[in-house]
Amino acid sequence: MHLVSSLLVVGAAFQAVLGLPDPLHEKRHSDIIKRSVDSYIQTETPIAQKNLLCNIGASGCRASGAASGVVVASPSKSSPDYWYTWTRDAALVTKLIVDEFTNDYNTTLQNTIQAYAAAQVKLQGVSNPSGSLSNGAGLGEPKFMVDLQQFTGAWGRPQRDGPPLRAIALIGYGKWLVSNGYADTAKSIIWPIVKNDLAYTAQYWNNTGFDLWEEVNSSSFFTIAASHRALVEGSAFARSVGSSCSACDAIAPQILCFQQSFWSNNGYIISNFVNYRSGKDINSVLTSIHNFDPAAGCDVNTFQPCSDRALANHKVVVDSMRFWGVNSGRTAGKAAAVGRYAEDVYYNGNPWYLATLAAAEQLYDAVYVWKKQGSITVTSTSLAFFKDLVPSVSTGTYSSSSSTYTAIINAVTTYADGFVDIVAQYTPSDGSLAEQFDKDTGAPLSAAHLTWSYASFLSATARRAGIVPPSWGAASANSLPGSCAASTVAGSYATATATSFPANLTPASTTVTPPTQTGCAADHEVLVTFNEKVTTSYGQTVKLVGSIAALGNWAPESGVSLSANQYSSSNPLWSTTIALPQGTSFKYKYVVVNSDGSVKWENDPDRSYAVGTDCASTATLDDTWR
Ligand SMILES: *[C@@H]1O[C@H](CO)[C@@H](O)[C@H](O)[C@H]1NC(C)=O
Ligand SMILES: *[C@@H]1O[C@H](CO)[C@@H](O)[C@H](O)[C@H]1NC(C)=O
Ligand SMILES: *[C@@H]1O[C@H](CO)[C@@H](O)[C@H](O)[C@H]1NC(C)=O
Repeated sequence: MHLVSSLLVVGAAFQAVLGLPDPLHEKRHSDIIKRSVDSYIQTETPIAQKNLLCNIGASGCRASGAASGVVVASPSKSSPDYWYTWTRDAALVTKLIVDEFTNDYNTTLQNTIQAYAAAQVKLQGVSNPSGSLSNGAGLGEPKFMVDLQQFTGAWGRPQRDGPPLRAIALIGYGKWLVSNGYADTAKSIIWPIVKNDLAYTAQYWNNTGFDLWEEVNSSSFFTIAASHRALVEGSAFARSVGSSCSACDAIAPQILCFQQSFWSNNGYIISNFVNYRSGKDINSVLTSIHNFDPAAGCDVNTFQPCSDRALANHKVVVDSMRFWGVNSGRTAGKAAAVGRYAEDVYYNGNPWYLATLAAAEQLYDAVYVWKKQGSITVTSTSLAFFKDLVPSVSTGTYSSSSSTYTAIINAVTTYADGFVDIVAQYTPSDGSLAEQFDKDTGAPLSAAHLTWSYASFLSATARRAGIVPPSWGAASANSLPGSCAASTVAGSYATATATSFPANLTPASTTVTPPTQTGCAADHEVLVTFNEKVTTSYGQTVKLVGSIAALGNWAPESGVSLSANQYSSSNPLWSTTIALPQGTSFKYKYVVVNSDGSVKWENDPDRSYAVGTDCASTATLDDTWR
């Protein structure tokens, strides 16, 4: 590896002295990188696959002591201690396994996925410092012990990307089940787990929480994008198993609307809204690859990998980390070692394997789509990205017959390979991938055998080989409402009960289309909005209490809080929206909660309501305090 890179450096210096374009030299340069990357991938793939499965309980070779289906973050038990399971990491790793499995049926991987599903049922029910399942809050807990007990130490919690990412991973397997004739299994085992995570997402997406790096308590681009995707994919999955998700349909467009506000007018994505960081963060590149939909073209609103915004952002994020010693000589347009963000101080701030591989993966995704659509569009937003690679390029659309198209495809592919080549250069000879590598020397650092590092290698190299995940429906879920609303829907939560999969879930010889639904699903939910006009004073809040579990069974402490978002002195409106199964009958009252916790009830009689059975998706109750 060292020999190859020093050759490249000499070649580049020679080029600069002559100052002349030398297409032959460029060709040799890209051939050397390509051969080097081909050979690294060939050696590393079986190592990464094996090491990834080693970190999954109960039988993984480095996961002894972990419960069945538990994806351990890393076997490192000290300096740092990663001997836990994070909901996010486990979901991203399982998504990779699901993608491999759906691409190439394999019973080892299938058993791993099914064990993961069973473990998640248990975790959803574990009460923890973020809360419990009863109102969904416990689903936002970021990490658990490897034996599925709660982790009670101080931590950045909640982290709201866990539930949507877990839903996405499980929906991936659920879709495989449906299209191979096992819709009943998808409905009885997968849907109840996913339903809780979707309810959480629709209820809590508009609250702040900690980001994927567990440091910033704010709104995170990565979390918001995962939330949007989960609700879009969740709604379609619900229909495919004869159910529905009214809250998904109502809330998804609002999340996408909010997601647009992360785009900065300075030509990049602001990953978190905090004033002490630039916001340039690999968070945004990870978002682009994990929300890649090969059927969505270069869609801007969902920030597809080849969208002009995502490409402009790629340049800004990579350029922000070129100052590290290890990147010396790696100037704009040349691949660089990439970490989380430039201000990072964790282990003094270094490149990460998964970040550098994400930078490659976004580019492979882009090349895949350009080839599929047979053209590349360069806009004023993405021009700077392209000019680094093909200096003569200008804005316009280049069809596959043009020399500019060919030049861009070749240059972007070589650029992407360059990131993998850097990872190759800093991979030790046993092929192990830690979390980070030193910003000056390139030596591996922090947690050894990071499960997510292996997953990121396997997904980036699958994209390079033209293997892409199934569409998640982005192309039909990318239109924006006229204005953004902070709407949420309170959900109902229940522990999934069925966790044992039938034997022999083998592939069908032809794809099975789920039956089209007529009428609404038996478990159709109606989004019931409760509007209560009640004049309150500062410090008072209003709750809804009633005769069913979703309304706290008449216990004010378990009732649903109303929002004063629309309250004014002339219109003293308190409001909330709750997803309730059609046909539910109940009694209810409003209570005013004083700042000392004491409660004032409305006068008798109890109010009563029966949710309709006519398939409507919404209903509104306009009440006034009595
Ligand atoms: C299934 O995947 C496992 C893990 O990657 C691998 O060891 C095994 O060879 C695969 N089985 C087949 C039949 O390909
Ligand atoms: C909630 O949504 C509104 C509307 O998009 C947005 O202005 C606000 O910043 C969001 N807040 C959080 C914490 O997500
Ligand atoms: C996170 O920020 C919210 C306000 O946006 C605040 O209510 C909450 O207490 C904060 N959480 C922590 C742990 O600081």
